[in-house]
Amino acid sequence: MVKRLAEMGVTVVLTARDEDKGRKAIEKLKTELTHINTNNIHFLCLDVSDPSSIASFVSSFNQHFGLLHILVNNAAVSFNDIGENSVEHAETVIKTNFYGAKLLTEALFPLFCLSSPNTFRLLNISSRLGSTNKLKNPIIRKILEKDDVTEEEVDGMVRLFLEDVKRGQWRSRGWPDLWTDYAVSKLAMNAYTKILAKRYEGKGLSANCFCPGYTQTSMTRGKGTHTADDVARVGTKLALLPPPDLPTGKFFIIGAHNTSVIIHARL
Ligand SMILES: NC(=O)c1ccc[n+]([C@@H]2O[C@H](COP(=O)([O-])OP(=O)(O)OC[C@H]3O[C@@H](n4cnc5c(N)ncnc54)[C@H](OP(=O)(O)O)[C@@H]3O)[C@@H](O)[C@H]2O)c1
Repeated sequence: MVKRLAEMGVTVVLTARDEDKGRKAIEKLKTELTHINTNNIHFLCLDVSDPSSIASFVSSFNQHFGLLHILVNNAAVSFNDIGENSVEHAETVIKTNFYGAKLLTEALFPLFCLSSPNTFRLLNISSRLGSTNKLKNPIIRKILEKDDVTEEEVDGMVRLFLEDVKRGQWRSRGWPDLWTDYAVSKLAMNAYTKILAKRYEGKGLSANCFCPGYTQTSMTRGKGTHTADDVARVGTKLALLPPPDLPTGKFFIIGAHNTSVIIHARL
């Protein structure tokens, strides 16, 4: 998405927890993007699972750029191969995928440009594995599907899952069957995005989630029905939707076999 956004003339800050990897990614992008001015692509170090890294990132961002118009929360981990379902790293998965995105969003909030017509765009990269229809626990499902679900309820749901993991009861408590810890992190992300969308409706913030579908990346060990490049094009289009079409509180889901099919669901 960094590449596609830069091609669209957007000033982009690529982040990575590993400084070396991040700088190499920037160098690679600069050699590929010979047709545009690449001075608008920047790098800052960020480990979303570490609050002190978030704080120093936000401070550097503020110093160099001041205002932010688009935030794409893409960072995530899963420690399972396709077909596996271990929750050995559940805490890290929740801390990175949900709390990483949430804490970063909160820390950057004072820098969000919320003034009309420059509606601020928050695009959280999520997953259909975190759809509420994957939950078999009717009580938790009902809570997450409420229009007025609260942050406390979402945090409570996440805590309950981690307690079930500790007690070894997570298999019998109606949590999603596939990549359970990852799915719970995305359930929480979707619900949090819905809360933000509702809270800032009409106040200059558009908050949506996007599930790229089964995509060929490190997370899937290169397997998938879509290429990262095709999916990045769609993500970029969603991040840059013009104001009249810019929705909020949506879950965009890419078609299982065709990246030109995008389903719009309510979060
Ligand atoms: N691939 C799929 O089929 C699929 C399907 C649905 C949703 N998604 C979502 O798409 C997004 C991108 O995933 P991907 O498929 O591109 O997987 P990926 O190749 O593993 O990319 C995940 C990225 O997150 C970064 N990251 C992990 N932990 C981090 C941390 N603590 N701080 C900062 N960055 C961190 C990783 O950095 P390192 O390089 O340092 O590890 C990596 O660059 C994720 O949100 C994922 O849940 C993917």
